[in-house]
Amino acid sequence: MRALFLIVLYAGLCYASSDSDQENIQIIMDNVLVLRVPNDLGSRVYVPLSCGEAYQNQPVVWKKNGEEIEPALQGNQVKVLVEEMNGGNYTCHLSPDGEYLNHTVILIQLEPDNRTVILEEFPEEGAGHIHCSAPNYNGSFHCTWRRSTSRSNAAVLLVKAERNSEKIPCELDADGSGIHCKDASCPYREEQHRVSLTIYIHSDSRLEAYTKTFYLRDIVRPAKIINLRISDGKEFSWNYPENWEKPCTYFSLQFEVKVVKKGFPCHSTNEIMNNTTDKMTYTVNIKSNKYVFCVRAQDKYTNGPFSHWSHCTVDKHTVCT
Ligand SMILES: *[C@@H]1O[C@H](CO)[C@@H](O)[C@H](O)[C@H]1NC(C)=O
Ligand SMILES: *[C@@H]1O[C@H](CO)[C@@H](O)[C@H](O)[C@H]1NC(C)=O
Ligand SMILES: *[C@@H]1O[C@H](CO)[C@@H](O)[C@H](O)[C@H]1NC(C)=O
Ligand SMILES: *[C@@H]1O[C@H](CO)[C@@H](O)[C@H](O)[C@H]1NC(C)=O
Ligand SMILES: *[C@@H]1O[C@H](CO)[C@@H](O)[C@H](O)[C@H]1NC(C)=O
Ligand SMILES: *[C@@H]1O[C@H](CO)[C@@H](O)[C@H](O)[C@H]1NC(C)=O
Repeated sequence: MRALFLIVLYAGLCYASSDSDQENIQIIMDNVLVLRVPNDLGSRVYVPLSCGEAYQNQPVVWKKNGEEIEPALQGNQVKVLVEEMNGGNYTCHLSPDGEYLNHTVILIQLEPDNRTVILEEFPEEGAGHIHCSAPNYNGSFHCTWRRSTSRSNAAVLLVKAERNSEKIPCELDADGSGIHCKDASCPYREEQHRVSLTIYIHSDSRLEAYTKTFYLRDIVRPAKIINLRISDGKEFSWNYPENWEKPCTYFSLQFEVKVVKKGFPCHSTNEIMNNTTDKMTYTVNIKSNKYVFCVRAQDKYTNGPFSHWSHCTVDKHTVCT
């Protein structure tokens, strides 16, 4: 009996002291430790935990997710066995009264991290899991993602954004499914380096990292054009979006104009006429007096994403929106 106990203990110690375990453990931020395990089932890893130097000479007892561990886990420095995705929040307490002292959260990341389940891909071809957009070149941009319905409780742990090793500050949206970032170093210079963005998000103990890299010029989508109006029954005019760059001569937009049959949406292929123009005015030359006039904007030099459509429904009473 005693011999068996020793063998088991010895095996445990060997396992715990194997170097490879340490290499797969990373402290990603204060009180949060990430364990990388291979992309297969049945992993068992001993993870060393410390209650902290401040409590070196105190009697310490540990709990996992607020519950006592059986058999009791005692001591400032301990090792806990993590099986598969079974991480958790390990808190240390002063015994015997149980006062909370400190905690370490253990999260598990599969390696390679390529079988992701927390975020859904956007449906458009090659769109990936993160969608970013900016209304102009001043360095502010916004990114969004969508949690899959079965992981709607997933929480963002950390966001890292940088360009050429320079950090870009970001703020998480209140609903946790987007960020606003402000690249202060960028405006009005030719972009040589991409923005690199990594979102660390966890659902229970499962941690996934999602990365996107892009040039600002590829994500600038002008806002809708404004003041769309009609005069003389067929001359339409409009203005640049309010938040577009000034002076406009350096940051020119071009416009796609289109006429579709009344009752059809602007993206309809059921078109009567289409054209592009640099001007902020267009004269429609068609016989019908019931139609929809549509216009949208695009950066003239980068041919980047189009704005959303604005339109006028032409009829006895013409209405522009
Ligand atoms: C609490 O634990 C963390 C590790 O999770 C450690 O970095 C920190 O120093 C500890 N705090 C104290 C007061 O010892
Ligand atoms: C872990 O437990 C501590 C102490 O109860 C708490 O302050 C902390 O927010 C918990 N962290 C997580 C991720 O549950
Ligand atoms: C994940 O990566 C591994 C190793 O690179 C590869 O064998 C596996 O097919 C990948 N799985 C998916 C779902 O892409
Ligand atoms: C950049 O443009 C955005 C969108 O119009 C605006 O909200 C923000 O205040 C601008 N920032 C600066 C520094 O001009
Ligand atoms: C616009 O019309 C031209 C023909 O005049 C056609 O080749 C082109 O595909 C049309 N553009 C769109 C976006 O439908
Ligand atoms: C396109 O617009 C230009 C003026 O902006 C005009 O000269 C040309 O005739 C138009 N083309 C068509 C097919 O309507």
